[in-house]
Amino acid sequence: MNLSRFYGRSTELETLSQWIVGDRARLITLLAMGGIGKTVLAVKVAEHNQDAFEYIFWRQ
Ligand SMILES: Nc1ncnc2c1ncn2[C@@H]1O[C@H](COP(=O)(O)OP(=O)(O)OP(=O)(O)O)[C@@H](O)[C@H]1O
Ligand SMILES: [Mg+2]
Repeated sequence: MNLSRFYGRSTELETLSQWIVGDRARLITLLAMGGIGKTVLAVKVAEHNQDAFEYIFWRQ
């Protein structure tokens, strides 16, 4: 997935990072209309917080 052209979503990125790393949330669902950017945001969040984890697993 090409993340080089990823715009905006800084508030969402920070909110999700806080939930995952700060609050140690174990399950988060991203719900929104089709094609709005859920998958790209999830990839970006994982990339942004990868240093906080030993492993990251992707399942489709
Ligand atoms: N923040 C963004 N900046 C630039 N392009 C984006 C951004 N978010 C999404 N896109 C682009 O919009 C398209 C749809 O994004 P994505 O596949 O993440 O949507 P989705 O919500 O997961 O869709 P679906 O509901 O079909 O799974 C992709 O081509 C993606 O690159
Ligand atoms: Mg998707």
